[in-house]
Amino acid sequence: MTLPFKTLIQLDKAAGQPIYEQLSEQLGQLIRAGTLPARQRLPGTRQLALWLGIHRQTVVAAYDDLLAQGWIESRPGSGTFIASHLPSIRPQALDTGAPTRMGTQTGFAFTRRTELERPVLSSPVGLRFDDGFPDARLAPLDAMSRAYRSYLNWGNPQAHVGYGDVKGHPLLREELSKYLNATRGLRTTPDNILITRGSIMGLYLSCQVLLQPGDVVVTGETTWAGATMNARRAGATVRTVPVDEHGLDVDALAHLCESQPVRMVYVTPHHHYPTTVTLRSDRRVRLLQLAEQYRFAVLEDDYDFDYHYLGRPILPLASADRHGLVVYVGSLTKSVSPGFRVGYVVAPTDLIDELARFRRIIDRQGDIVLEYAVGQLFHTGEMKRHFRKSLRAYQSRRDHVCALLTHELPNWVQFQKPDGGMAIWATFDPAVDLARLAERALRAGLYLSPGLVHNPAGKWLHSTRLGFASSTEDELTQAVAVLKRVLEAGK
Ligand SMILES: Cc1ncc(COP(=O)(O)O)c(C=O)c1O
Repeated sequence: MTLPFKTLIQLDKAAGQPIYEQLSEQLGQLIRAGTLPARQRLPGTRQLALWLGIHRQTVVAAYDDLLAQGWIESRPGSGTFIASHLPSIRPQALDTGAPTRMGTQTGFAFTRRTELERPVLSSPVGLRFDDGFPDARLAPLDAMSRAYRSYLNWGNPQAHVGYGDVKGHPLLREELSKYLNATRGLRTTPDNILITRGSIMGLYLSCQVLLQPGDVVVTGETTWAGATMNARRAGATVRTVPVDEHGLDVDALAHLCESQPVRMVYVTPHHHYPTTVTLRSDRRVRLLQLAEQYRFAVLEDDYDFDYHYLGRPILPLASADRHGLVVYVGSLTKSVSPGFRVGYVVAPTDLIDELARFRRIIDRQGDIVLEYAVGQLFHTGEMKRHFRKSLRAYQSRRDHVCALLTHELPNWVQFQKPDGGMAIWATFDPAVDLARLAERALRAGLYLSPGLVHNPAGKWLHSTRLGFASSTEDELTQAVAVLKRVLEAGK
């Protein structure tokens, strides 16, 4: 029986894919589907070309391709045949029309983990109150692109863009070590630093390496879901303690430690996520004392250290740690822009080595070109200039939006002016349905985070983060005006 090749094969000259490749792929599909069984003779190239209205050389090229892949074989003097070694496949009905796209479902079962479901925030471009993202318009993009170019054009590419150090580009580790020591009172060497793709990877690796199923991890009652999800994924149980205007309640933590072994405490002491408050100094000392007494790990997430507006820096817990108890995680994603995936973990070298071994099984190394470029910007001082410039801009944006909210929305929004960070923790009038407000604001042209579930118990909070850093003062004025209009138009 001769197959109706003319209807089975659909070639599209406008598709941008060479015709011979389309033909070879479609013949391959017919072979894999069993429509063309093992040992069947294929039409001669001249005949097939005639049926399909294409050049004979195109059919020759397609057959050559299939020959090279072992789907067909050529027998001199008698023609071209489907390979004899192919397993016999029950042919599918011709008209089932094999799907041309990947489809939406696997053919095997797997468990969809609901604990991994969390809204994915992106950086909105119009008027916005985001979660506290930086303004990419201030990022040192020209200097970055110069550094990229110089790396790519420099010396022997074999040495620069091949497999490198799992722990990160040496220049960046060196520069970061100097920068962290100078600004945060740390005492690192480059060996204490593992470069990651953003701080989330540092949190993931720390949880995977340090936690065993059943371990207890303590966080604030309000916290960053990205951290608790990682702790849970590593098998840990998450317990919470209250957070007030001075940060984590360390007395409550002490009580918890008396009643059960605690393996890790996750904190954002510089600006608590999401409420933005700074952990008071006596609580910092007590937290470290508890860590020493009960030998738990402190996972310190310093996601936005570079933005504090009181003038005097508040040093991280890691700077006062004398016993190797703090694992310090930071990132440039908030200081430059989230698309530049560069973060780091700072810890004693035994842990850094183990984190690197673990990292290697999911990611052989980071983006070395990016890491070099960032290292170079630290080296030339460009990065520090950027931090100074954006700190000034964000501080006046904070002042501007706080004044606006106070004057324009006094009956709707309560907040404390944050001493640092990139967002205000705003509590709305209880009569306002935040999810609906966010929908209505979006229709009016303003993105507003609908108040994520910041509580590990899943409690819906009546507050949300109003990120101010990514908008100019003019944009913030417009954003507050839209918010006011939408609020006044109905609850
Ligand atoms: C508290 C906190 N930690 C860590 C991260 C992760 O940041 P990165 O983009 O560096 O992975 C975020 C991101 O929003 C965050 O809010």
